[in-house]
Amino acid sequence: MLLKEIKEIYHRELDEIYPKEEVDSMFYLMIEHFLGLERFILAIDPEIVITKDEEQYMFEGLSKLKKEQPIQYVLGETTFMDLKILVNESVLIPRPETEELVNWVLEDIEELDDKLMVIDIGTGSGCIAISLAKFKPNLKVTAIDISRSALEVAKKNAFINEVDVEFREVDILKAGSIGKNYDIIISNPPYIREMERDKMRNNVLQNEPYSALFVSDEDPLLFYRTIAKLARDGLKENGVLYLEINQYLGEDVKMLLRDFNFSEIELRKDIFGNDRMIRAKLVSIN
Ligand SMILES: C[S@@+](CC[C@H](N)C(=O)[O-])C[C@H]1O[C@@H](n2cnc3c(N)ncnc32)[C@H](O)[C@@H]1O
Repeated sequence: MLLKEIKEIYHRELDEIYPKEEVDSMFYLMIEHFLGLERFILAIDPEIVITKDEEQYMFEGLSKLKKEQPIQYVLGETTFMDLKILVNESVLIPRPETEELVNWVLEDIEELDDKLMVIDIGTGSGCIAISLAKFKPNLKVTAIDISRSALEVAKKNAFINEVDVEFREVDILKAGSIGKNYDIIISNPPYIREMERDKMRNNVLQNEPYSALFVSDEDPLLFYRTIAKLARDGLKENGVLYLEINQYLGEDVKMLLRDFNFSEIELRKDIFGNDRMIRAKLVSIN
């Protein structure tokens, strides 16, 4: 079959669900990933023919995209901080906002060569832990998650990115401690309230793990309170806590951190102009 015919079929089947440019972009990602063809191939060779096996990959991918599976799950990978990160339905697809949180930490420790101890709480695909370890090899990074299947993906990601991260299965809502003497604690915990579900796209709601995303409307700060408590015991004096947050709850998280004796609390916006991350220091330990 001609590759250009497959492209026409993609548009015929998907243009009702996604904008045309997004369909183009998905088609090119599919041919790059599954067929090893450059995106400009149709401009160079408009009559290029693909094999039956190649057709099958393209049609299998098409049927997943029709069911609104995110392209990252269809490809089985994404990019985070320019690193290849494998993903499947057990892990949240890493978001660009989270890259900004990682960059904040990297900026803060740029000049430091000490062997700092870091823990990433709710690591998912491992994207935060792995990128910190990759870009700052002097860090000793631990990463924890409640989900065993997420940790399996995270371990593979550490392996393919050639970094050493210690992974542990921990339910922070039940754990009394996450260990001591950390210089940095970082987390992007579940923070979307049930009431925000109807603002979200179908492909997120139907595919990404519920437990990675949602908290109850009654207690949306559950994870922040738990992390603040664990961080108060787990951080060294002058240790720093970095959190990704729900854009509507920035002031509430700040207040909560103050109650837990954190100081120098700074709220930052993401590239979209939403309150998205907080840094706080533990100055005095009670
Ligand atoms: C928003 S996702 C963040 C994933 C990844 N760190 C990222 O930024 O893409 C939250 C993660 O917290 C984990 N999680 C949820 N409840 C947890 C708990 N009680 N203890 C530990 N981890 C938990 C989920 O499995 C999920 O991987």
